[in-house]
Amino acid sequence: MARQPIQRPDLGGPFPEHIAIIMDGNGRWAQERGMLRVQGHTAGVQSVREITTQCARMGVKSLTLYAFSVENWKRPSQEVKYLMRLLRIFLHRERKTLMDNGVRLGCIGRRDSLPAAAQNALRKTEELTAANDGMLLRLALSYGSRSEIADAARAMCAAAKAGELDVATIDEDTIRSYLYDPETPDPDLIIRTAGEMRISNFLLWQMSYSELYVTDVCWPDFRKDDLALALRAYARRKRKFGSLLDGKDAGDNSRNTA
Ligand code: IPE
Ligand code: IPE
Ligand code: MG
Repeated sequence: MARQPIQRPDLGGPFPEHIAIIMDGNGRWAQERGMLRVQGHTAGVQSVREITTQCARMGVKSLTLYAFSVENWKRPSQEVKYLMRLLRIFLHRERKTLMDNGVRLGCIGRRDSLPAAAQNALRKTEELTAANDGMLLRLALSYGSRSEIADAARAMCAAAKAGELDVATIDEDTIRSYLYDPETPDPDLIIRTAGEMRISNFLLWQMSYSELYVTDVCWPDFRKDDLALALRAYARRKRKFGSLLDGKDAGDNSRNTA
């Protein structure tokens, strides 16, 4: 299928290059309907497909989806197993959608802790989509921001011990270079579904100047129109990065250039 041309909506303001989403509320969505929690996870896959496709078509450069946190391993083993199976199936079934939309798949998190079958499916989908030149879809899997920072600190110490890193030169760029994916710019917009006003250990370093948007809509109900509302809210934000917007030092209002 031929790839559709990029259609970026005119929102009367800046458009986010990188959107990150805390996809929450699958369990509540299901329970409100008298269904099992895991059925909410299955329903949430439709939203992943629709939002990924829509973002790719609008020309979003990167979309990061928080799919499974390091803390989520604490959930009942049946639910964890179900989620891992769903991940494996998703990685197989969505290959065509990813290819049709020119999407490249990536992952942040402790992927080694995923079951072997999920790791294999992830690797294969990454390989298949590696040459795609459209949007980067990053799945945060077994991801925790504190783990990421701890992993970076450990790697920096090892490099210093091996004489490869001069401790006196460590700055913000050095720390960034040891994070899971230093190449992808920070998220411009972080969306959380299902109403919780918290970050739940997501991208703590990278979100320093991200705009936050929380909606009460649960993830399985979050579709194109809900995304459009978030984008409209973002377009109205005044990003200052610590400067004065109306002053000479306002700088570039669309990127974190720190
Ligand atoms: C988000 O939905 C999916 C994951 C965390 C894997 P939840 O499962 O957290 O749903 P709620 O928050 O319990 O409703
Ligand atoms: C955050 O949701 C993690 C993901 C969406 C994968 P949680 O449901 O795990 O977060 P808490 O427990 O409400 O903070
Ligand atoms: Mg939750």
